[in-house]
Amino acid sequence: MRKGFIVFDLNGKRAVVTGAGSGIGEAIALRFGEAGAWVWVVDRNEAEGNATVERIRAAGGKAEFEALDVSDAGAAKALAERLGAIDILVNNAGVGHVGGLLETEAEDLDRLHAVNVRGPFNLCKAFVPSMLQQGRGSVINMASIGGIVGVRDRLAYTVSKHAVVGLTRVLALDHSHTGVRFNAICPGRVETPFVKARIAEYADPEAAYREMASTQLNGRMGKPEEIAAMAHYLASDESAMVTGSCQLIDGGWSAGK
Ligand SMILES: NC(=O)c1ccc[n+]([C@@H]2O[C@H](COP(=O)([O-])OP(=O)(O)OC[C@H]3O[C@@H](n4cnc5c(N)ncnc54)[C@H](O)[C@@H]3O)[C@@H](O)[C@H]2O)c1
Repeated sequence: MRKGFIVFDLNGKRAVVTGAGSGIGEAIALRFGEAGAWVWVVDRNEAEGNATVERIRAAGGKAEFEALDVSDAGAAKALAERLGAIDILVNNAGVGHVGGLLETEAEDLDRLHAVNVRGPFNLCKAFVPSMLQQGRGSVINMASIGGIVGVRDRLAYTVSKHAVVGLTRVLALDHSHTGVRFNAICPGRVETPFVKARIAEYADPEAAYREMASTQLNGRMGKPEEIAAMAHYLASDESAMVTGSCQLIDGGWSAGK
């Protein structure tokens, strides 16, 4: 590498990362901060969101916390009005549910839809108009391997993440030639508080952990930092040719069984 060459420079860019209080979102926010971006850490959990801000600042980065439930369209609009135009929007906040048809109620479907689908929709409604006006922006939606293939025993989650992939593709189509790009990231299993909570719901958590790791061809779960690396690339100008894509980071899960 050329001496002094900065890879995926985010200096001067303004980024909003939802669900940045924990797991993948936290890793993305930290990485963006290290890359020079101004980061708005958005989460409904104040304590965790503020802790992420402190970690970014301690590493020399610039960050602010914003309390927000992404399912609240009015609050998302108010936030966008306050912040003005941004360059990067990462719709990462998400919730899960374990169960197939017999264990899933319509309310579970609605609960996941409200956060996983209406959340990104609300934030896009709020922030994309100013991105279109300035003629640049990168929107990154955190989907899942469950947005590409069916995940056993995750009916509501799979449905919601397929919707996130659909949302991303339509946004990319409708706003081609604008300078605003829309991409999804589809991780396999990543070891975060989200996954640990799901594992704890099983009768035999240790067996569940082994089973979940085994769906990756490489036999391990991903790390939040490995997802953050992709978000960093998609956020940067070096991915200018990438839009409407679904970036799989799944340890080979989608290659087949
Ligand atoms: N961990 C995995 O294996 C995995 C795999 C594929 C995709 N994903 C997706 O990645 C994203 C992050 O997952 P994670 O594992 O880091 O989760 P996590 O539970 O560790 O963190 C999620 C964060 O989102 C916040 N959040 C939840 N609902 C919110 C809401 N309505 N408004 C604002 N903030 C809210 C939580 O407070 C938390 O800080 C999710 O969209 C998830 O579906 C995770």
